[in-house]
Amino acid sequence: MKLSEVVPFGRSLDEYRHMFALSRQDLDKTILGVADGPASFNAELFAQGKRVVSLDPLYQFEGEEIKKQFDRVADDVFGQVASRPQDYVWAYHKNLQVLRETRTRVIDLFVTDFARGKAEGRYIYAQLPVLEFRNQQFGLALCSHFLFLYSSLFSYEFHLQSVLEMLRVGNELRIFPLLRLDGQESPYLTPLIKELDSRGFHCRLEKVAYEMQKGGNTMLKITKT
Ligand SMILES: C[S@@+](CC[C@H](N)C(=O)[O-])C[C@H]1O[C@@H](n2cnc3c(N)ncnc32)[C@H](O)[C@@H]1O
Repeated sequence: MKLSEVVPFGRSLDEYRHMFALSRQDLDKTILGVADGPASFNAELFAQGKRVVSLDPLYQFEGEEIKKQFDRVADDVFGQVASRPQDYVWAYHKNLQVLRETRTRVIDLFVTDFARGKAEGRYIYAQLPVLEFRNQQFGLALCSHFLFLYSSLFSYEFHLQSVLEMLRVGNELRIFPLLRLDGQESPYLTPLIKELDSRGFHCRLEKVAYEMQKGGNTMLKITKT
């Protein structure tokens, strides 16, 4: 996969649960979803009576405009997946059609919830590497399909500052996946873990029950020691 910009593709609550190995207790924590984009994680949890705060620069736009941005890039992204099916594991999304239907259902759920959720402060227009939250405001910060994945567009320094900022506002941080768009491990991963270790954080690589990019079934969990 090659992309010249970050695409507004979103995942479901079930995918978040798998990617981040979220337990029922985890879902009761105060959760910050960073770079949540058009994921339906927030909307689905809200429907279950829970409250998550999501942030993303996309949230400066209206829901319909975000859907249009998805529509503009969808054929290219799904076309690239179709051209290299061997790069992906089809255990969760059985085939390309299921994948496309899921991504469309997810963004539709998101759009339906967005205006109300934004008014309620559940969707916040903000972006890494600087967040306007208090120290330790959240029990758990999650960041999926942004850091590491787009290593070709964002520098190591951006990754480090972003991770430190998320650890400032959250007690624990989980990031998934750790691969770049081309399916190779991000070159930032090892130096970042070393740097965090030296700053007194505890980093753990955890295998999870979600693998779409071949070999991409590891999540990085960072806590304060
Ligand atoms: C591929 S989407 C992933 C959405 C969601 N996390 C998921 O996995 O379903 C990546 C998101 O990163 C967001 N993004 C881009 N630059 C960002 C930044 N500087 N800080 C936070 N999010 C950013 C994009 O707007 C986009 O919604």
